[in-house]
Amino acid sequence: MSRSMIADIVEKEGQQVTVSGWVHARRDMGKIIFIDLRDASGLLQVVFLPSNKEVLARADKLRPEFVVTLTGTVNARPEKMRNPKLATGGIELLAGSLEILSEAKTPPFEVDKDTMNVNEELRLKYRYLDLRSERMRRNVVLRDRVTAFLRNWLRANRFIEIETPILTKGTPEGSREYIVPSRVHPGKFFVLPQSPQQFKQLLMVAGMERYFQIARCFRDEDQRGDRQPEFTQLDIEMSFVSQEEVLALAEKMMTELVATVAPEKKITSVPFPRFTYRESMEKFGSDKPDVRKDKNDPNELGFSWVVDFPMFEKDAETGGLSAAHHPFCMPNPEDVALLDIEPLKVRAWSYDMVLNGFELSSGSIRIHQRELQNKIFKLLGLDDQTIQTRFGHMLEAFEYGAPPHGGLAPGIDRIVMILANEPNIREVITFPKTGDARDPLMGAPSDLPKSQLAEAHIEIRL
Ligand code: AMO
Repeated sequence: MSRSMIADIVEKEGQQVTVSGWVHARRDMGKIIFIDLRDASGLLQVVFLPSNKEVLARADKLRPEFVVTLTGTVNARPEKMRNPKLATGGIELLAGSLEILSEAKTPPFEVDKDTMNVNEELRLKYRYLDLRSERMRRNVVLRDRVTAFLRNWLRANRFIEIETPILTKGTPEGSREYIVPSRVHPGKFFVLPQSPQQFKQLLMVAGMERYFQIARCFRDEDQRGDRQPEFTQLDIEMSFVSQEEVLALAEKMMTELVATVAPEKKITSVPFPRFTYRESMEKFGSDKPDVRKDKNDPNELGFSWVVDFPMFEKDAETGGLSAAHHPFCMPNPEDVALLDIEPLKVRAWSYDMVLNGFELSSGSIRIHQRELQNKIFKLLGLDDQTIQTRFGHMLEAFEYGAPPHGGLAPGIDRIVMILANEPNIREVITFPKTGDARDPLMGAPSDLPKSQLAEAHIEIRL
């Protein structure tokens, strides 16, 4: 008999079915054994009666997390035994046969309970068990719903999904980079992208006009609850758009996302309130305002926009200028005259989307003129040689008919974290790193054999 998913058997009362899954819990009531069986779709109560001695004897061997396949009859539960909290709470399976497919050791923590308070190192080492718990499964499913919605929404709005390289050259987003040695080019390195920023702009020069990517990004920076060394952005870029058009599109996309995947949530105000960077700093003392009316309401989502960020900041180390966002942002044309006189007063056409006090996304209208881009690099203290080696390809691309363009990149991990009411993004990343950027499950990062290092032209000096 072909296997039924648990969620589907509520429709099959009175029928014989085969179900497979994990033993979630076991309860012995005198001579009767009950188990809760779990599969990817839900939980089902299974009853082993003394009348079927052979099967009952086999059921007696069952322990939590054993993998089994069962055939039996779907019966309505007696009135008093119904469980309205469970989708299958009105039925149970009367076991006719039982096969044990896999035995299981006692898990290092109970997966039929919430694992939030279990030691995190242990949870990450046994992530495949942690993911069996209900909350973690729910988060994985929510993340799938979010990315599926965004992908479909953007495709319906004439965007195309394009992959960009992971083995590439650095793009400045303000963090240290992960580097990968080249075997075939001794002494040379690839850099993992902090974001696909340069590629998405080059795709605009290529005439793609509306690009998106669910893009993995890598940043070697100190960890926090809302930061991981490896994370995912919904990277978006458009040609021939104004800042207003980008904001309007992103606002519509987020509003519809919430209505579709988290209809229980309500957005504090639509259109999202908008503050200039200066207003936000004055009013909230932060560029990440939390505009919720009731910060204790888990279903309130306070979106806002912060616009008119400064183009530059004073670099604490060098005393020179550094890019407040990244060096590709378009200075506000009203302020271009200040570039040579008072660069710190120049505003950029750059904007952040903020949600509940978290920066969800930043973005900007980009520079698409060679001369202006070159000038910005110079103001940032780069000499001609450095500009040429690091960004010569961008300047050159702007000489071949670059359209005006702009975009943004909401962090998927942060969106899902907030929709799931989780306190940190590790709860919504299937296989995250620890706070000190390790993966206890795979044991990464790890030593490598000398021979492998030699091939990559690496010698370790500690
Ligand atoms: P930015 O660096 O602001 O902009 O990143 C955009 C969004 O990505 C998310 N994010 C992170 N999420 C988890 N862990 C991290 N370490 C991390 N770093 C960033 C945040 C953030 O708002 N190329 C530009 C975007 C653009 O201009 O279009 C960029 O990467 O949600």
